[in-house]
Amino acid sequence: MSIFLDTGKYDEIKKFLSYGVIDGVTTNPSILVSEGLKPGIKNLEIQSKKVAKLLKKLPLSIEVTSNNYKEMLNQSIKFSNWSKNINVKITIHGPNGELENLKLIHELENKKNVRVNVTAMMSAQQCFLAAKAGATFVSIFGGRVNNMGYDSNKEISILRNLLDKFNLNSKIIVGSTREIINITQWLNSGAHIVTCHPKFLEGMLVHPYTKETVQMFLKDGNKIIK
Ligand code: E4P
Repeated sequence: MSIFLDTGKYDEIKKFLSYGVIDGVTTNPSILVSEGLKPGIKNLEIQSKKVAKLLKKLPLSIEVTSNNYKEMLNQSIKFSNWSKNINVKITIHGPNGELENLKLIHELENKKNVRVNVTAMMSAQQCFLAAKAGATFVSIFGGRVNNMGYDSNKEISILRNLLDKFNLNSKIIVGSTREIINITQWLNSGAHIVTCHPKFLEGMLVHPYTKETVQMFLKDGNKIIK
């Protein structure tokens, strides 16, 4: 079971790596833009290579920026050549339900030696087909699933059962984290990996009652060693 950080912020990644609690990083265009990445493929390349180097062998997901088959193929090959630990995010289908994305996913994994993280999925069914097509990672957006009125935990456990039953090797990433409790609940429901913003890990760690207890220990400790 693993935790990934859903950010491109170098310092945050470095910090949580040094704590020994993260096992990879995911990004998407919206995250990178909101974090201030400047436009231009060169800027994406510089940032991605820097983060990939920091991660050593741990995986880094970079998403394609187009839904044109040829452009997605070219970007996928380009991004994955930036570093051995980079995998490429492709959405399960296009903005209007275009199906050819699945063909590309299959081609990248089986003919182009590119590891794919299939993204923007909202159901176990979508993830199951992505896994059948050969995806290394299948990303279900747990928070968005819940927001639509469905139970993300149920979808995750259905998906994990299917993957195990059919001996499919894809790893389930659950993203779109909205609450601290999502992380342990999703891992318990069968996620191999949960990816979250750094603020959720801080929230998991710091507890007001722990603060109070530590303050008490330090106050009394001072009375012993002066
Ligand atoms: C996962 O890989 C995605 O980057 C991410 O978690 C999407 O979440 P959102 O619903 O906050 O956009």
